[in-house]
Amino acid sequence: MLNVEHLTVENTETGCVTDERNPRVSFALSSDMADTTLSQTRVRIADWTATTTEQVGIAYAGKGLQAFSEYPVEVEATDNYGRTASAHTTFETGRLDTPWQAQWITDGDYRFAEKKVSPCPMVFRRTVCPASGKTIVRARLYATAMGMYDFAFNGERISDYYFAPGFTSYKTNLQYQTYDVTQQLLGSDACEMVATVAGGWAVGSFVFTRKNRVSAKRQALLAELRIDYTDGSSDVIGTDTSWQVTMDSPVLVADLYDGEVYDARVTLDAVSWNAASVEKLRIHPQIQADYSARVREHEVFEPTLVKRSDNGELIYDFGQNFAGVVRFTVRDAREGQNITVKHAEILNPDGSLNTTFLRTAKAQVVYTCAAGEQTYSPRFTYMGFRYISVSGVDAASIDITGVALYSAIDEIGSFASSHEGLNQLHSNIMWGSKSNLVDIPTDCPQRDERMGWTGDIAVFGPTACFNFDMSRFLDKWLRDVKAEQTRGGGIPNTVPVQGYGFPATMPQMAIDWWGDACVLVPWALYQSRGDKEILRSMYATMKKYVKACLFWAGLWGRGDKRYIWNTPSVLHFGDWVAPDVPQMSQWQARSPWTATASLNNTSRTLSKIAHVLGESDDEQYYAQLADRVAQAYMNVFTDGKGKLHNEFQTAYVLPLYLGMFPQNQRTAAVKNFVRLVESNDYKIGTGFPGTPYILFALADNGRADVAYRMLLNDACPSWLYEVKQGATTIWERWDGLDENGECPIGDDGTDIMISYNHYASGAVGAFLYSRVAGLEATSAGYKTFRVQPVLGGGLTWAKASTRTPYGVTGSSWALNTDGTFVLTVDVPVNTTAEVVLPDGATHSVGSGTHSFTCTVTNETNMEVRA
Ligand code: BGC
Repeated sequence: MLNVEHLTVENTETGCVTDERNPRVSFALSSDMADTTLSQTRVRIADWTATTTEQVGIAYAGKGLQAFSEYPVEVEATDNYGRTASAHTTFETGRLDTPWQAQWITDGDYRFAEKKVSPCPMVFRRTVCPASGKTIVRARLYATAMGMYDFAFNGERISDYYFAPGFTSYKTNLQYQTYDVTQQLLGSDACEMVATVAGGWAVGSFVFTRKNRVSAKRQALLAELRIDYTDGSSDVIGTDTSWQVTMDSPVLVADLYDGEVYDARVTLDAVSWNAASVEKLRIHPQIQADYSARVREHEVFEPTLVKRSDNGELIYDFGQNFAGVVRFTVRDAREGQNITVKHAEILNPDGSLNTTFLRTAKAQVVYTCAAGEQTYSPRFTYMGFRYISVSGVDAASIDITGVALYSAIDEIGSFASSHEGLNQLHSNIMWGSKSNLVDIPTDCPQRDERMGWTGDIAVFGPTACFNFDMSRFLDKWLRDVKAEQTRGGGIPNTVPVQGYGFPATMPQMAIDWWGDACVLVPWALYQSRGDKEILRSMYATMKKYVKACLFWAGLWGRGDKRYIWNTPSVLHFGDWVAPDVPQMSQWQARSPWTATASLNNTSRTLSKIAHVLGESDDEQYYAQLADRVAQAYMNVFTDGKGKLHNEFQTAYVLPLYLGMFPQNQRTAAVKNFVRLVESNDYKIGTGFPGTPYILFALADNGRADVAYRMLLNDACPSWLYEVKQGATTIWERWDGLDENGECPIGDDGTDIMISYNHYASGAVGAFLYSRVAGLEATSAGYKTFRVQPVLGGGLTWAKASTRTPYGVTGSSWALNTDGTFVLTVDVPVNTTAEVVLPDGATHSVGSGTHSFTCTVTNETNMEVRA
């Protein structure tokens, strides 16, 4: 049997609505026969047919698509055994270029002038009566807002998405959402449409300066209902002055950082309404059909009550740190009873909530009850928390759960091993990801940031791509990276900028590792998903960026020094949060090393990208540039014999990982590096730029033994120290809590920058997949891949799998006490794997499940990787 699986349009399996002119189709295959390859595929969309051997990103190239239409997609695949399989799906076009008949509307009387807070939510309504005597075939609502909106028809919410229209660089990109409201309209003669619009990112207070009104002076709504009847006629009802507006909704306050204040006694029937006014926006973004992986509800946690304070405050523990909201049901409530829920990641040693590190974020819910039983959960905010305190109600009268909110990214990866600590580390990486993949890649979900810090995803991207199908999520964010690139080529440190792109100390310039996201993130996505389109669309941005890096590097010297990126360290983040030096200024002072290595890395990567895109001149140019930078690093920072003049872990990690040491100095460099690691008792000493690569730098240079000692070390600072301290997510700071559960970090120049849910150092996840389990793509999308487990650390088994665009690849190995090593490998249809066993034997295999065995001696698997 040959089967077509995971047939997607624009990386969406069902319900894709798109404004793309050339939507892309991808699919995987499964087969019950070994060595199955794809001979040919026929893809048909409407009357366009393509015959290809591709499976990923097959772009529609037929005649122009019509707006508001449904298109059938059929795929028929034939394999090398002559068997065929087919599948079909549909997608719908959005508005394409159809001008909006609707107008932007607002409450014209509302003047929002306060600083550092979010505006009062605005509610709009209108009743619609479908034409009598006609039968509805389909009804769609197209909607967007300046702010964050939620629509209900006849009192029922019309979707389960949170935070529409999503966070984008509003001045350039704004998404609209499409809702199928056919059922709602079929069943009613008069349907009341109600939209609540909170401040969200566009109008509300955001970034740690709590800047507000960045994109608009107050909220505004744009919506259009299109009803199609069986007789071919249509009604279009758009937002205009016939809609009504009120500021007296039950949602009194909604702020991303501060939370929600809700008064359940307020009913919209009883408040006064005014006619809405037409709003003139000051920005004019392109408004496009939603291309994101929208934020939805996922896991639901039941807490345990851990403490009842004398003042009646209840402390609950959800057992997991996560991003989301609470949902509670109160029974027998008194009208006017006030319930307050506060959120925090950690408790103080006395068991009370520790909210210090939230900085200005209040992260609380204040709910005023109506009489009787009621259920409430906030809609326009989220928090990062494991613990809550609840006051104003006794435990017996409230049922409370925690709802994890994050983008709808498919979880495609798994990892497990014989080491419980590593398994918990993997779980922490997963939760660090889930908590920070909330519409944009954020740094942390709890304090007054939750911003799209570029450096964090630049280093974490590959790990995220093992665990999740990041296609839509990153594709969306990268559109904003492209949009926000400065004229000089720099990439803001946070994207979307939304009031904060560069700290006051930094001019609008290229900044190593953070700006590198514009090269590293598309590359990581391409490696895992195999769709060249992301490289094509980002290519000009990347080139402009690397040119800017070269410019800044070149400003400070001649000869070799031209390639040493030596701008003043206050202009960089350097070895950010390196635990071996305590002050922020010391992390920054390492920027000549991190920045120069960054220039080598981005230019080398860009050379590879140019190769993929067939840009051979560029390929050569960037390869030469990378070589020159490597040469300069050697000449300026080392003694030419593999020893750095100024030794610190990251300064060795980067050139070793990036292959910058000449072959004849590599062995000495590894020796010096290992000496440094040993003298630090195998504890971590790297910041953001070094952490993802340190174990690779060791294991790939013949020192898997040292890599494992580091990986399994549980003394502070180390990955497993956090695990030992009970962490359920990855911490921002290696020493976030001491052995007594207290935070030892003093004034280090960062303004108490301490979060317990930051994914960056979870970048070690890529090592778990690609070295411990041994699974690594050797060409984009895992069309070819290698399985080469690196043994060590006393591990007796490990396994990992990840769902590639072609199907699930897996590696599972076990080492028996008699030295017998058994490896089972899953190879998807139409891919091949090179399997390298610990004794050095190599096998090349096609699709299917394959098992291998060999005998392991102590010395095996210590070779330098090619
Ligand atoms: C963020 C980081 C970020 C850094 C850069 C912090 O406040 O939380 O993760 O990359 O600033 O300065």
